[in-house]
Amino acid sequence: MAAVAASAAALSLVLSACAAGSTPGDKPSLRTHEDVTVYTWWASGVEKQGLDKLAEVFEQQHPGITFVNDGVMGGGGSSTSKEYLQTRLETQDPPDTFAAHAGAELDDYIEGGFIQDLTPLYKKLGLKEVFPKSLMDQLKTQDGKIYSVPSNIHRANLLWANPAVLEKHGLDTSGQYEDLDSFIADLETLKQAGVEYPLSVANEWPQVHLLETVLLGELGAEAYDGLWDGTTDWNGPEVTAALEDYKQLLSFSNPTRNEMEWDAASTMVVEGKSAFNIMGDWALPVYAAEGRQYGKDYVVVPSPGTNGVFDFLADSFTMSTGILDEDAARAWLETVSSKEGQLEFNRIKGSIPARTDVDPGQFNEYQKTAFESFNNDPIVSSVAHGAAVPVSQLTKITAAAVAFEKDGDVAKLQAALAASAG
Ligand code: BGC
Repeated sequence: MAAVAASAAALSLVLSACAAGSTPGDKPSLRTHEDVTVYTWWASGVEKQGLDKLAEVFEQQHPGITFVNDGVMGGGGSSTSKEYLQTRLETQDPPDTFAAHAGAELDDYIEGGFIQDLTPLYKKLGLKEVFPKSLMDQLKTQDGKIYSVPSNIHRANLLWANPAVLEKHGLDTSGQYEDLDSFIADLETLKQAGVEYPLSVANEWPQVHLLETVLLGELGAEAYDGLWDGTTDWNGPEVTAALEDYKQLLSFSNPTRNEMEWDAASTMVVEGKSAFNIMGDWALPVYAAEGRQYGKDYVVVPSPGTNGVFDFLADSFTMSTGILDEDAARAWLETVSSKEGQLEFNRIKGSIPARTDVDPGQFNEYQKTAFESFNNDPIVSSVAHGAAVPVSQLTKITAAAVAFEKDGDVAKLQAALAASAG
């Protein structure tokens, strides 16, 4: 757990980074017993549209309770948004409920006593029966308790491509790559042909995200899993090869990457400035906007070398300890878990519902491929998005990636990643 002093410094950073409308300091004055304060980092663009929709369903289902958006900017749960949340928790000013990722990310919050056991709510709403077993395994702690309610299932290992750019340079427009070598060869072709930055990359967590998909593509599902449970040696030659590939990928990307948010990197592909981006399916609304067609104007396929594997994460809502009105928080969680909430929210968000009883026919063509893969392929946990490792370990991995972006020292990165597990 970060010390309060360090968190306070982070808080001032977040406050200065907050966009108009994100005024966390003003929020507590809005609270009454009829409010539910909900923290997410879905503060703008397509992410906010998804949250707004969920809030709309909530207010229809629970007309006596007002939804209060208590979130901040910070896509992907960037370190500043997580530090801001941590400060709120440590200073006994928690939002009633906050979105985190299902899996190991919750460990530190559970250990710190910041969130409540929701097993009784699962019983009351019959939720164990409606979420798939693979997801329940992620949600349950070792002692069988459950601390969050998932709103969705996102896929992380996706390559987004602009087929017009590929066609122009005589490349296969499917975007399918069996391995990283063939992907790197096409990046080289594009670069030689004058596409300055064939792969778009954004700041901080998107770099960890890219790194994770390269590790998965190079090592395969089993050895990738082994990195997080200690059965794969971080110092092995396969990891070195993956990190060399990662270094090459960065060399094909925009030098503006450290100043760029994930969605701006997606826009580079939409606009044909880059041919490719690797990002989770929350990017779908960026590509699918304004009548652009799946398979024609953009393609989205498993990232190089990861066909037949589903790299999983889920946005999952908690209930904080020490809050004014637990019933209001439970009402929010009920909406999050409801069929209608999951349908309406996920149609916008790009993810698929966590519930198994929502009709896939109501979703778009890309999302149908996600249903198919999640139900049939081996599932691995995303590291950049909290499923594989606790916040404390991810913080170290992120620091290693940030340092590598500057010095490009593979041996140093490998040593730092190996040390992050300790
Ligand atoms: C979250 C998504 C979010 C994305 C970008 C991921 O960590 O799970 O819900 O859209 O980050 O902010």
